[in-house]
Amino acid sequence: MFGARCLLRAVRSCSSAPCPRHRPAARVSVRGALGVQSANGERVKVQGWIRSIRSQKEVLFLHVNDGSSLESLQVVADSSFDSRELAFGSSVEVQGQLVKSPSKKQNVELKAEKIEVVGNCDAKDSGFVHIHTPVITSNDCEGAGELFQVEPSSKIKVPEENFFNIPVFLTVSGQLHLEVMSGAFTQVFTFGPTFRAENSQSRRHLAEFYMVEAEISFLESLQDLMQVMESLFKTTAMTVLSNCPKDVELCHKFIAPGQKDRLEHMLKNNFLVISYTEAVEILKQASQNFTFTPQWGADLHTEHEKYLVKHCGDIPVFVINYPLALKPFYMRDNEDGPQHTVAAVDLLVPGVGELFGGSLREERYHFLEQRLARLGLTEAYQWYLDLRRFGSVPHGGFGMGFERYLQCILGIDNIKDVIPFPRFTHSCLL
Ligand code: 4AD
Ligand code: MG
Repeated sequence: MFGARCLLRAVRSCSSAPCPRHRPAARVSVRGALGVQSANGERVKVQGWIRSIRSQKEVLFLHVNDGSSLESLQVVADSSFDSRELAFGSSVEVQGQLVKSPSKKQNVELKAEKIEVVGNCDAKDSGFVHIHTPVITSNDCEGAGELFQVEPSSKIKVPEENFFNIPVFLTVSGQLHLEVMSGAFTQVFTFGPTFRAENSQSRRHLAEFYMVEAEISFLESLQDLMQVMESLFKTTAMTVLSNCPKDVELCHKFIAPGQKDRLEHMLKNNFLVISYTEAVEILKQASQNFTFTPQWGADLHTEHEKYLVKHCGDIPVFVINYPLALKPFYMRDNEDGPQHTVAAVDLLVPGVGELFGGSLREERYHFLEQRLARLGLTEAYQWYLDLRRFGSVPHGGFGMGFERYLQCILGIDNIKDVIPFPRFTHSCLL
């Protein structure tokens, strides 16, 4: 506390001291600032991202990093600088005096005179850190073999070798990379293009679409995961409705009459939850004739999903606990006897069917090892298994198709009408 008061005095004294305010601040990197041996009030400007923030009664401590050094620079500011915008992840420009630090942890610190937030980061609001997951990858996360392979267009110098030494593909999901990063940041998300070589001309399939994916460490139940999914659906819809009411109104008026009420109905009701087994029973008892006969162990088709949503009164419905054999290797085994299921969850919505796919992940080393061995994937996924060897925690996540989300809230029948340049089988214009 004594240290904090001392610092405060030091910060405040600057405004009355004849200190060299008129001199322009020299831009320095964090590495450059940390390297100053005997700081003596030099005026500098540092640009970087806030790595941590600690607010005391009268003083604010920020740690700012610009990537030039592993260590961050401590910025000490008057608490009057404190604001919602000064958050973990925000980019800032700080001007002030470089002084000797009273703490043993660092040689120098920056006494802030001016802090400008260059770019906000709303990671603090949701607690999720944005990760840029790669577009080119060597894994087939979903294991469905719907991959576009990536190769140089002209032969490289050693034609018998792959450019990356191994076959690589356009990503079908950023999930596995998010799982790595959730081990460092606990709650992470990505939002980027995703590619699937699905031979489908349907109203809800694209070869290139956008997906929002989230991964959450220390998450132990599908209930907790479904809460995050429902809240993402609802808060995003409310934000769209309040930020672009005129655009939404236009769609609802001319393209999808009645959609306004349908959307309100979705937003004001709690989403429902049924198990896959219950879903199959409902389908078996349906009076409707399906093209694909419903049967335990078989995939749910679009016709089934749409029926289930109607059956649930046009309220989005979570279907949980699917047969293990239908789902990818990473889903957590429910160990529930003969009708053997995994902790999977799909959210089905009116007009579209499946909008979200998610699950608890298999965090137990031996379960995952056996699953991968049965699929002949042990070698390829050694790194993924290793995540379970070093501080493994229960975790889970989901992905939401962005174009399908727009279809659902705007009431647009065909996915090709919610994206400017749709790519699908036999079509890649421009
Ligand atoms: O259910 P999917 O395949 O789940 C995953 O990829 C998980 N790895 C996500 C995760 O847990 N991080 O895909 C998620 C969603 C689907 O529910 C659907 O909305 C959308 O992505 N989607 C498509 N959208 C348009 N065209 C396609 N071909 C799509 N395939 C999936
Ligand atoms: Mg799915």
